[in-house]
Amino acid sequence: MSEWQKVCSTGDIPLGEWHQSDVDGTTVVIYNVDGEFFAIEDVCTHDGAILSGCPLEGDEVVCPRHGARFSVKTGEALSAPAWEATATFPIKIENDEIWVQDLRWD
Ligand code: FES
Repeated sequence: MSEWQKVCSTGDIPLGEWHQSDVDGTTVVIYNVDGEFFAIEDVCTHDGAILSGCPLEGDEVVCPRHGARFSVKTGEALSAPAWEATATFPIKIENDEIWVQDLRWD
């Protein structure tokens, strides 16, 4: 069973910003949406572009390569040319530290 992994503190991610981290060999990006934190895999399911580094538009991120939109809350692909969701990861916050777990292979 995969373990929770500490990735950063809440203060490291201002409102509307993001933090990229490696979680069990997967590149994960954590977003701060109005004070709530969400973690998705840092990859566009259309053709593998990196999603981090693009500004949030509400709770959506736009792929820099061909413009697909993803919900950072659900990972859902919201527009073409991406059709598959990017992975999401559970988050817990303890003492202002953000922890992420990858349960996909358990
Ligand atoms: S690689 Fe993201 S939309 Fe094409």
